Amino acid sequence: VSLQPWNTFGIAARAQALVRVRSVADLQAVAADAELAPLPKLVLGGGSNIVLTGDVKPVVLKMEIMGLRVLAAGPKAWIIEAAAGQNWHDFVTWTLAQGLPGLENLALIPGTVGASPVQNIGAYGVELQDRFESLDAIDLATGQAFTLDAAGCGFAYRDSVFRHAAAADPGAQTGSGLPRGMGLAGRAVITHVRFRLPRPWKPVLGYLDLERRCVETGVAHPDARQIFDWVCDIRRAKLPDPAVLGNVGCFFKNPTVSPDQCADIIARDPRVVHYPMLDGSFKLAAGWLIEVCGWKGKTIGKAGVYEKQALVLVNRGSNGDSVTGGEVMTLAKAIQTSVYERFGIRLEPEPVVV
Ligand code: EPU
Repeated sequence: VSLQPWNTFGIAARAQALVRVRSVADLQAVAADAELAPLPKLVLGGGSNIVLTGDVKPVVLKMEIMGLRVLAAGPKAWIIEAAAGQNWHDFVTWTLAQGLPGLENLALIPGTVGASPVQNIGAYGVELQDRFESLDAIDLATGQAFTLDAAGCGFAYRDSVFRHAAAADPGAQTGSGLPRGMGLAGRAVITHVRFRLPRPWKPVLGYLDLERRCVETGVAHPDARQIFDWVCDIRRAKLPDPAVLGNVGCFFKNPTVSPDQCADIIARDPRVVHYPMLDGSFKLAAGWLIEVCGWKGKTIGKAGVYEKQALVLVNRGSNGDSVTGGEVMTLAKAIQTSVYERFGIRLEPEPVVV
């Protein structure tokens, strides 16, 4: 099976087997199937956060479970549930049409609802964990359904238990803070996610790009719909549409450094874009680090650095002659090396590399 239509980079890799999962029962059938059960699995949502470096040996579970519903409208929050296969942006659009604000800052993020907790998606001052209630998953080892709350998901910046292997996971090294063996990657499959949207709704406008919009438009108190439109505008202006130019969004995480490291980097270049964190550390804009190293708009082979956002790598090939995962990783390593040589900072890839 060709995976080219199923990954937004448009990489032409193949899978030996692909199961289209349309219900919880489909997953339980996979877990009970004598042939499929013992094989390793790769869960695929929208394919918008994955780099395929070759043909995929595990059985690909393509998540297509659908459904959206409002579970409760209490005085303090709405609780809504979405099935894993729902497109994320369509889901956000639906919530606003239903008069349920709270996810507008997360508009236009590619991918599916089921993938959203995996990397704890975030944008413009809101992270998934800020709106998360609980999720249902199936344990592929047993076919059993289980529910996890936020603590059980181990959310961190672009991270969760779903990104860590089931055993011998060096959680401390990856910054997830999870004890060894807590990972659920390849073992648990998310089927439904519930969200808690606080009432009364409050706008989140702290992010510079949104503050600027308030000033420019003279709208000091935007409603959720207005914020949704602004976020869509901002994203369309600096992030490539994967339907037009293959990409997986931001390719590196924004690194966190200690105050000493930050001072050292400011001494190397006082223009460095940095934000203080609550715990005293500083977050650096990886896009800026990559840009000042001269990478913006550069291409190696068929892998390129997007000209409007240096944090995004793009497929400069065509459908018949697409970039390979190897080319993407070669470019990524070259970027990592030059940022390390200039700033002493190791950039960590954000998408899952298979
Ligand atoms: N910058 C540059 N050059 C660049 C890109 C960025 O100098 O090429 C500097 C600018 O000073 C800019 C600052 O970096 O003001 C921040 O840039 P931006 O607002 O575009 O955000 P980001 O830090 O590059 C992060 C997330 C995005 C998310 C945006 C908005 C990560 C890895 N990236 O990007 O998430 O949409 O903030 O909240 O955390 C993703 O995870 O795939 C993703 C796209």
